Amino acid sequence: MSNYHIKSLEEYFQVYRKSIRNPELFWEEIAEEHFTWRKRWDEIFSYDFKKPEVKWYEGAKLNITENCIDRHLHIRGEKTAIIFEPNNPNEKAKHISYNQLHTRVCKFANVLKDFGVNKGDRVCLYLPMIPELAVAVLACARIGAIHSVVFAGFSAAALSTRINDCDAKIVVTADGGFRGAKTIELKPIVDKALKDCPNVETVLVAKRTMAEVKMKKKRDKWLKPLLSKAYNDCFPELMDAEDPLFILYTSGSTGLPKGMVHTTAGYMVYTGYTFKNVFSYTEDDVYWCTADIGWITGHSYIVYGPLLNGATTVMYEGVPTYPDNGRFWKIIEKHKVNQFYTAPTAIRALAKEKIEFTQKYNLSTLKVLGTVGEPINEEAWHWYNENIGKKKSPIVDTYWQTETGGIMISPIPYVTPTTPTYATLPLPGIQPILMDDQGYEIKGNQVEGKLCIKFPWPAMARTIWGNHKRYKHTYFSTFKNNYFTGDGALRDEVGYYRITGRVDDVIIVSGHNLGTAPIEDAINEHQAVAESAVVGFPHDIKGHALYGFVTLKVMGAGRDHENLREEINQLISDRIGPIAKLNVIQFTNGLPKTRSGKIMRRILRKVASKETTNLGDTSTLLNPEVVQEIIDNAIS
Ligand code: WT7
Repeated sequence: MSNYHIKSLEEYFQVYRKSIRNPELFWEEIAEEHFTWRKRWDEIFSYDFKKPEVKWYEGAKLNITENCIDRHLHIRGEKTAIIFEPNNPNEKAKHISYNQLHTRVCKFANVLKDFGVNKGDRVCLYLPMIPELAVAVLACARIGAIHSVVFAGFSAAALSTRINDCDAKIVVTADGGFRGAKTIELKPIVDKALKDCPNVETVLVAKRTMAEVKMKKKRDKWLKPLLSKAYNDCFPELMDAEDPLFILYTSGSTGLPKGMVHTTAGYMVYTGYTFKNVFSYTEDDVYWCTADIGWITGHSYIVYGPLLNGATTVMYEGVPTYPDNGRFWKIIEKHKVNQFYTAPTAIRALAKEKIEFTQKYNLSTLKVLGTVGEPINEEAWHWYNENIGKKKSPIVDTYWQTETGGIMISPIPYVTPTTPTYATLPLPGIQPILMDDQGYEIKGNQVEGKLCIKFPWPAMARTIWGNHKRYKHTYFSTFKNNYFTGDGALRDEVGYYRITGRVDDVIIVSGHNLGTAPIEDAINEHQAVAESAVVGFPHDIKGHALYGFVTLKVMGAGRDHENLREEINQLISDRIGPIAKLNVIQFTNGLPKTRSGKIMRRILRKVASKETTNLGDTSTLLNPEVVQEIIDNAIS
């Protein structure tokens, strides 16, 4: 029996049972046999979900980049670590070997050190999908600095909030980036953001678009000359197992984004282990995940998970539709991709296009297809299975979260029989349970409830940066002694899990996690707006789209409503980013509220989804008269 690479269903059940009965032994063997440590741990794990406090491999010393890079050098130094596929198909792809990656990471790490970055300091990375981003991530980890990658589609305001929250003193960015036919200027966004970030002392700028940018004296430096002068070796900082590795912000249902803190050893073991199994990666495979490194999927399954396994990982700069809708499939053919991991929203968008786009290319190298980010609907699942996998590549529908660090529930390819729309079974070490609204566990099969995890796993986020109370409140207070995911799920007759979606005020739009509160805050900043409520409604391609109900201070007071809609969306775009723009804006005379003043979103969700025949109990409404008005004026 191999703990590390599960090859049959029988073995899965054996390994799973072992991981539950004797988690210490299970995680000890994996850590021992597949990773490099500078000092051994004293204890495999300890936890207290009441506090909450979770620790893995305490007492151990290590550096994750030594595991991602150095230990591969003598066996696969010339192997390609990263294939960079540029946005423009006529620009040559770049192959970065493990040896080259080592040099680049060391040089970058030395540059950071020269600017005074020390262990524990936060470094904000605001970069397009170019190799510098992966290198910067690893360079931070090399010296024990905590990276905070901010997706380069976020606005200046969203960027400054994130920089200030973790008090980063250095920002790494680029002149701009290419995405499809668009050239995006990034440096001006950073300049704007930094007007509100007095503590940032240094901005390192990579060149990509060659756009002319303003460089602020003393603060701003071009990266390239610094890198070329930097020394090409850098000793990996010895980290404690529980030292923070990175912060990554994710939306909450209320308030500021949450800076999820991931620590070193547990995150390493878990992402390495899950990558190997969920993608069934073997030595000469080429693996491609289409996510952006600005999201957790990119952290865990473009950078860390693949590199921990000595894999070849593809990094694509552009979008699925450029220069045409065949680009993904063209890249698969070009780089002979074996494992392909993408989001349901991309599949749905491409499935709408002419089938010739998929037929033009040789996809026969594919062995495993993956999806992540939201529930995949049956139609998209079949399209993916038939047209991309040619019914030969198993689809792994991987369920997890920024907070979980790694994949939690997923089929193992060629092991777990798949069922469309089901994430199927928990990975070894993961103990999901379903809870009812009274806080009791729902046992047995063919049941539905709120999805919790009752036992710690190595890659779980340890806290919210600077706000442990919020961490406790968000994840450990709804169901005592359990981690609450915020998702609903059902368990079928064979024990397979199907995720049914968020049960809180988080909406997943095109695989992006968006909280309603920050969007409402942005809308409410408009001087004409009295109040607003944002809900999600089902959308063919995006999965969910955003519907805003907006009450104006003065209704219809001679204002042009189309203009107002644009202004509101512009505000959202400025405050958060274009991904949070509303698809539909309905102006209302009021919002349905309970006697305690809480907006009854349940009703608004039904209106937005055009399910107004049964609104459920409305007896607690303070202002039932607005409901009919809202239904009558609903926008289709
Ligand atoms: C939320 C987490 C994890 C990487 C990308 C998203 C939803 C994620 C699935 C799936 C159904 C899924 C959940 C989860 N989700 N994967 N396979 N099936 N829903 O990370 O931005 O933290 O979002 O995405 O609702 O809670 P994230």
